[in-house]
Amino acid sequence: MIELAPSILSADFARLGEQVSRAAEGGGTIIHVDVMDGHFVPNITLGPQLVRSLRKATKLPLDCHLMIEDPDLYIPAFADAGADWMSVHLEACRHLDRTLNLVKNHGCQAGVVINPATPVEMLSEVLDIVDYVLVMSVNPGFGAQPFIPNSLHKLSKLRSLREQRRLNYRIEVDGGVALETVAQIVRAGAEILVAGNAVFSHGDPKINAENLLKAALEATMQKV
Ligand code: DX5
Ligand code: ZN
Repeated sequence: MIELAPSILSADFARLGEQVSRAAEGGGTIIHVDVMDGHFVPNITLGPQLVRSLRKATKLPLDCHLMIEDPDLYIPAFADAGADWMSVHLEACRHLDRTLNLVKNHGCQAGVVINPATPVEMLSEVLDIVDYVLVMSVNPGFGAQPFIPNSLHKLSKLRSLREQRRLNYRIEVDGGVALETVAQIVRAGAEILVAGNAVFSHGDPKINAENLLKAALEATMQKV
């Protein structure tokens, strides 16, 4: 099943509730929340306080993508603020297994994220404990960057590994998902499509979300 996770990074923060509602009306079913600390990535965004406000503004699951160092220090606060899903970067975790379990112990779905230069093979020991794997298809830090095609084979590899090892994690992709790229992305194996720029940076988020989902669903139908 394909799901769209609109990323609020490209939304107008002064009208956030309204923009999130429009994206949900267009078919978005998960709200992707990019948390950046100015250390792990060269940008600063938002913290638990905004997650708490969003929690009141939507019933959809909040998928907090933690692009931060020392995530263990902040996981409890994001859970308390209302995060439903939390993903941490392999590259930011010294004790990845412990951190993923911390997320789960706070009642959230646990995801692991890999940067474009990190091979899927690095995840072999945690694939059986994660609820989802997030493949970055841009270098994290900013919205509206071009899709890195090398991510495609990583999506396919994750799909085959899941089958081989009979696991259940879901496969999410983040960065450069747009009308022009989405077909190859879903054919490669992505099931949760994060999209910021394509949904929020122009026009109506409802129409943009509808169009993107339509293109994604058409591509999966062609595959069969
Ligand atoms: C980038 C973020 C993304 C970002 C994707 O570091 O993790 O979630 O919003 O942006 P687009 O869809 O604009 O490429
Ligand atoms: Zn993200």
